[in-house]
Amino acid sequence: MKITMAEYVKSINTLEQLPNENIPHIAFAGRSNVGKSSLMNTLLNRKKLVKVSSTPGKTRSINFFLINQAFYFVDLPGYGYAKVSKTMYRDWQKLMESYLSSVGQLKAVVHLFDLRHPITQMDKEFLAWLNYYDIDSILVGTKADKLSKNKLAAQIDSNLRVLDDEFGSNTSVIAFSSVTGKGKDELWSLILEHLKTTKK
Ligand code: GTP
Ligand code: MG
Repeated sequence: MKITMAEYVKSINTLEQLPNENIPHIAFAGRSNVGKSSLMNTLLNRKKLVKVSSTPGKTRSINFFLINQAFYFVDLPGYGYAKVSKTMYRDWQKLMESYLSSVGQLKAVVHLFDLRHPITQMDKEFLAWLNYYDIDSILVGTKADKLSKNKLAAQIDSNLRVLDDEFGSNTSVIAFSSVTGKGKDELWSLILEHLKTTKK
């Protein structure tokens, strides 16, 4: 994928601030610290366009990046960070649900989980949310460089088994690393496929 431009546009805290151009969105979601910002930078061949956090759980707004004048990359706030208060959690839920339920240009959500750990209850809840709103998801396992080949295959297998039980049999996972670039081309081709769909 040739990136001719990638530019931070804005951060929003309510849906009224949503950018109003009628261009497609690809959103990125997952628990806090899973490697979302790093993955977006890797896809865009940038080192620091999307801030990589030293303090997890800080991203509370939805951040928009305009790519090639043609579509938005949308950085959704991470979830599951232990130190978040109940009020912050409710604000997060409200913002996420209003975004997921009302943005017609949303073509797919790239959903990240850390390959070293089992899928969490919150991951499952988030995936159930996407199912409920009939939003396509692309499942990505991050930090693949931290696992041996065997361990990687085993982790993918066991996570897929959990997901199959919960969501049916057509789930697949892209193993990704922002350190080695593993999975980058595969993920781009799926994203481009979803950008072409006209379902919504
Ligand atoms: P929040 O925005 O706080 O929710 O975090 P995030 O999901 O955007 O994660 P971020 O990209 O900021 O990465 C969190 C930490 O994981 C950083 O220390 C990254 O350097 C590290 N990290 C991210 N991706 C990878 C990866 O593929 N491999 C390795 N080894 N480390 C990674
Ligand atoms: Mg981030």
